[in-house]
Amino acid sequence: MDCRHIEFVNEVSPQENRTSKIDYYQLQGLFRLGAFWAQDRKIEDLQIAIANSQAVVTVWDNQKLIGFARANSDGVYRATIWDVVIHPEYRGAGLGRKLVETVLIHPQVNRVERVYLMTTYQQSFYERIGFEYNSSTTMVLHNQPLAAPVPVTSLQSQELGA
Ligand SMILES: CC(C)(COP(=O)(O)OP(=O)(O)OC[C@H]1O[C@@H](n2cnc3c(N)ncnc32)[C@H](O)[C@@H]1OP(=O)(O)O)[C@@H](O)C(=O)NCCC(=O)NCCS
Repeated sequence: MDCRHIEFVNEVSPQENRTSKIDYYQLQGLFRLGAFWAQDRKIEDLQIAIANSQAVVTVWDNQKLIGFARANSDGVYRATIWDVVIHPEYRGAGLGRKLVETVLIHPQVNRVERVYLMTTYQQSFYERIGFEYNSSTTMVLHNQPLAAPVPVTSLQSQELGA
């Protein structure tokens, strides 16, 4: 496959008051097609996740969204990569590697001490990019999201014993 025209875009968060090129309908479709863990994601929730991700990379074949990945980062110590996907028709051509590498060189990711990710089936893919098994640190809480957010000020008051 000739991929020279494929474009990798570093999206800028709407919180930074710049326009984002992300087409959420196409992103929802890409997840349904290629991301088994993200089949039922709603557009309004995707918008929240992306607004709260420091690195967001999209991959385009002209106007068609064919890849996506994002990362959360504190900018210096830790970053975690999420939602890496390449459209099934475009796999095996080096685009997945370039997608992850584009996240890794993002200014919010490239100087952190450790970059984490979770994967069910793609260990070999990530090993080729330089990731290693890390069985020692992973725990998970299947959280029950609150219906309404707790106001931050009341949490601070409780911590201060007020
Ligand atoms: C995982 C995924 C992003 C890889 O994208 P891709 O474009 O096919 O990967 P690339 O062509 O860039 O492959 C990069 C390297 O990894 C290897 N590779 C890719 N998928 C592999 C697999 N499943 N097992 C072993 N090696 C794999 C390639 O052979 C290539 O090796 P090389 O650089 O030595 O030649 C893609 O298969 C995908 O979207 N899968 C479904 C979603 C998913 O599971 N994402 C990961 C969630 S954690």
